[in-house]
Amino acid sequence: MKILVIHGPNLQLLGRREPEIYGNTTMDGINGRLQRLGADRSVEVVCFQSNHEGAIVDAIGRAPAEGVDGILLNPAAYTHTSIAILDALKAVRLPAVEIHLSNITGREAFRHQSITAAGCLGIIAGFGAYSYELAFAALYHHLIEKAEKKGN
Ligand code: DQA
Repeated sequence: MKILVIHGPNLQLLGRREPEIYGNTTMDGINGRLQRLGADRSVEVVCFQSNHEGAIVDAIGRAPAEGVDGILLNPAAYTHTSIAILDALKAVRLPAVEIHLSNITGREAFRHQSITAAGCLGIIAGFGAYSYELAFAALYHHLIEKAEKKGN
């Protein structure tokens, strides 16, 4: 099983970026935790970060050919603006879970709407770096159920 983790703009700054909102864990720290969760379950976890919308669209578009089974995605600010990322998710039809460190519904009004979530199985938000671990569990559970239905 292979899971692609996509971090959107400014998430490379985690740990230093508004720690009162996003916490002290760095992106490498999050990736390390996901790699360990994956290793315990024979899941390959591949991590990617970009500040550029098109690069994120490209990564999603390449995912099926790269053997990716599911996507963990924090689109960051593109959550609230990107029809292109939504369209990419819908185009590849891979199961995806949207992640937010902060509870976007409890923040500024412009963060309340997620455009990209409509291309995902669901959203996990508000648990800081732990949101990623919860999202991993949700996606893994979904992929295992799917494989069992197929009889693998
Ligand atoms: C975020 C929430 C977004 O509104 C914001 O633009 C981010 C991070 C989060 O993880 O809480 O960059 O996606």
